[in-house]
Amino acid sequence: MTALTPLMARVLHACGAAVRPEGVAVLGSYAGNLMMWLTAAGFGPFRQYAGQLAVGVDVDEEAVLLARANFSMAGYQNMQFRTNDAFSTAGSLMVGAVDALLIDIDDPVERKGGYLSLLQTWLPYLSPGALVIAHDVVHPRFAESLKGYLDFVSGPPFVASTTLPVDECGVAVSALGTSA
Ligand SMILES: C[S@@+](CC[C@H](N)C(=O)[O-])C[C@H]1O[C@@H](n2cnc3c(N)ncnc32)[C@H](O)[C@@H]1O
Repeated sequence: MTALTPLMARVLHACGAAVRPEGVAVLGSYAGNLMMWLTAAGFGPFRQYAGQLAVGVDVDEEAVLLARANFSMAGYQNMQFRTNDAFSTAGSLMVGAVDALLIDIDDPVERKGGYLSLLQTWLPYLSPGALVIAHDVVHPRFAESLKGYLDFVSGPPFVASTTLPVDECGVAVSALGTSA
């Protein structure tokens, strides 16, 4: 099951193809539905550039096994999937810098409320100019708890940020300054 719509898939694919991130981290990767589109241009079977390392992180071990199998079957390269808490593993999972970070955790208690502290935890590991993508920012169930996240990405060290309500979930796409 996935909340991924065809339009969101295209937006994620376009982000990856335009920014060409060599290092990608996806927090809350589940089966890899969103990740597959974000990483297609650099890591997929028809890649347009050479992605170095894409890491999917999820606390759910079965989801991690499923994601690993999905990407292997689809012919992706340089992918890693880890059963980890994304809050406690920032940086230690990546060999190089993170050029694109996708946040999509859903905690049983806090739900999407942890996005801001998760971003702050990973911020030191992001490369200058990195793209940060947050899923579900316009979903009616999460809009209130994600206000703090959207406030944070609307100012420094971010230089540009936009919310794209392309479907019921929506996505925020934010660019870190190049001198950060
Ligand atoms: C909405 S699902 C992610 C969907 C996925 N991005 C996709 O493309 O289908 C949320 C995921 O966050 C994971 N999760 C919740 N808290 C987490 C944490 N602290 N660290 C890592 N993963 C977490 C859950 O296990 C769940 O698989």
